[in-house]
Amino acid sequence: MGWSYGLPALIVAVLGIVVSKVGWRWFYIAAVTTPRDVTALFAYIKLLILVRKYQRKNVTVSDIFQTQVAKHPDKTCIIYEDKVWTFRDLNEFSNRVANLFHTHGYKRGDVVCLLLENRPEFIGVWLGLSKIGVITPLINTNLRGPSLLHSITVAKSSALIYGEGFKECIIEISKDLPSHLALYQFNNAKNEPTEGAAKDMSTLLQSASKDKIPAHIERADHHDKLLYIYTSGTTGLPKAAVISHSRYIFIVAGIHYTMNFRNDDIFYTPLPLYHTAGGVMSVGQTLIFGATVVIKKKFSASGFFPDVKKYNCTVAQYIGEMCRYILATPPNPADASHKLRLIFGNGLRPQIWPQFVQRFNIPKVGEFYGATEGNANIVNNDNTVGAIGFVSRIIPSVYPISIIRADQNTGEPIRDEKGLCQLCKPNEPGVFIGKIIEGNPSREFLGYVDRQASEKKVVRDVFRKGDMAFLSGDLLVADERGYLYFKDRTGDTFRWKGENVSTSEVEAQVSNVAGYRDCIVYGVEIPNLEGRAGMAAIYDPDRVVDLEQFSENIKKVLPTYARPQFLRFLTKIDLTGTFKLRKVDLQKEGFDPNKITDSLYYQTAKGKYEALTKEIYDQICRNEVRF
Ligand SMILES: *[C@@H]1O[C@H](CO)[C@@H](O)[C@H](O)[C@H]1NC(C)=O
Repeated sequence: MGWSYGLPALIVAVLGIVVSKVGWRWFYIAAVTTPRDVTALFAYIKLLILVRKYQRKNVTVSDIFQTQVAKHPDKTCIIYEDKVWTFRDLNEFSNRVANLFHTHGYKRGDVVCLLLENRPEFIGVWLGLSKIGVITPLINTNLRGPSLLHSITVAKSSALIYGEGFKECIIEISKDLPSHLALYQFNNAKNEPTEGAAKDMSTLLQSASKDKIPAHIERADHHDKLLYIYTSGTTGLPKAAVISHSRYIFIVAGIHYTMNFRNDDIFYTPLPLYHTAGGVMSVGQTLIFGATVVIKKKFSASGFFPDVKKYNCTVAQYIGEMCRYILATPPNPADASHKLRLIFGNGLRPQIWPQFVQRFNIPKVGEFYGATEGNANIVNNDNTVGAIGFVSRIIPSVYPISIIRADQNTGEPIRDEKGLCQLCKPNEPGVFIGKIIEGNPSREFLGYVDRQASEKKVVRDVFRKGDMAFLSGDLLVADERGYLYFKDRTGDTFRWKGENVSTSEVEAQVSNVAGYRDCIVYGVEIPNLEGRAGMAAIYDPDRVVDLEQFSENIKKVLPTYARPQFLRFLTKIDLTGTFKLRKVDLQKEGFDPNKITDSLYYQTAKGKYEALTKEIYDQICRNEVRF
């Protein structure tokens, strides 16, 4: 028997063994997912090569920006309203900042907070400070009082730069600010009076040199801290996450390669520049890759597509809530006549994805998921509706992120008899984690400025004793092909009638049925009943949602156990900087009409919503109303 006979037989035999081990299904999955995985692998390799190169050369963000300036000084760098800043403009402005703060005695390792609205100078200020190695905490401009004070003090800064529009907020907390804190007021107009001891930064900048800083000044290293970016959780005080130069470059290049951005793209971002999404991912495309970015003072739903059209943008950035607001605007000729080739962002819910893409003629959606401080970052770049990313099914070890079994309420991992964590099966929800490898920029967890807060996000002894992973705090589910879908935040999910109710899914459906209104869903306790009953708080100040229609339509999209038992119509809302409603405050008030002045409804046994009066409330508490 020669080879001609033997080889096919051998192949069949080997195949037989493989198939009996992994099953035919594996081959099918491998075949449909390989192109996706290979594309991602190439992007990942390109990323690693670039990151290594910059690491070897020990370059900073401003060093890389400098090479872009040299390449095309007159290219448009930033567009803001009717102002155009070229690469040279941004460079000269940032040089002025560097020279000014150098002469004022600031040096490598010092911390100077920035509280300024979105504008080109925002980027110029931190970029300039970074040229002399100064770290800039980017303060959320929505903060006031104690949380503003906390953000400034937790950063241990020696100075604060604030825009004139924030003068009142600073006066309000001035007596509690550390006495050594130097204040710089950034004025729009000349001769604007500054607050008390504050220096007039705009005037000082005009007399500072626009030339590059003298060579003898100490610079930052590749691994030095560059920015602090505060995570705006829906609970607690903001936490400052550390962004080093290497981390900044890594995030920017990571999104660049996985989304296939081009250096001649024109980006549109209406997001705040003090967050990673707008301030790193989009702005970084111009600093690191030489693209152009259009920034906005404020997001406007009706202005989004007209802007995109006007500025000839090719890539636009969103967060999910924005898409919902945009979808709620009346039709506009700019809706589908723009030059976008891609929108990218975070949180476009599967429940509005198809409508959005169709109405606005979006060729491609790049959805990513990741935390500023985390290392569990993923991307869906192949237009799979609803997915937030994927893990390879055939070569999972390439990118060490996993979904592990966990208590859906507490997020606490469920361990096996050996005390180790367990991987979820396809379609089984669990907590998303990213393996921590110190010293590897893609796997490192730099944590928060506050050490204790950092420890809470780390899980140990994951798959073997002594290993570590970053706990995202989000519940995800993977399908058979490895696509990942967001389920909920841990702690938000609640149980009702023996089922887990995902608040984020219910929120999306309720919002759709209520005409894309803001909505927030949470569980409330009813005496003597197991689990929690769902409450949907809907922002509807003019009370236009028709309850008859609402109850009909909600039945079509949600199973019985997930339909809200209670409705509350909010007349005012308190949004965080990322348009997220503050859940905790509402949850505390339960469904008690004696405490709540908003109109309340409950779902009757027939599935209709009726007014929740004080009498009904008492009956519910005595378990006389059936759910
Ligand atoms: C957008 O492109 C059109 C046609 O190519 C051009 O006439 C227009 O000036 C561009 N607008 C901007 C703001 O660059």
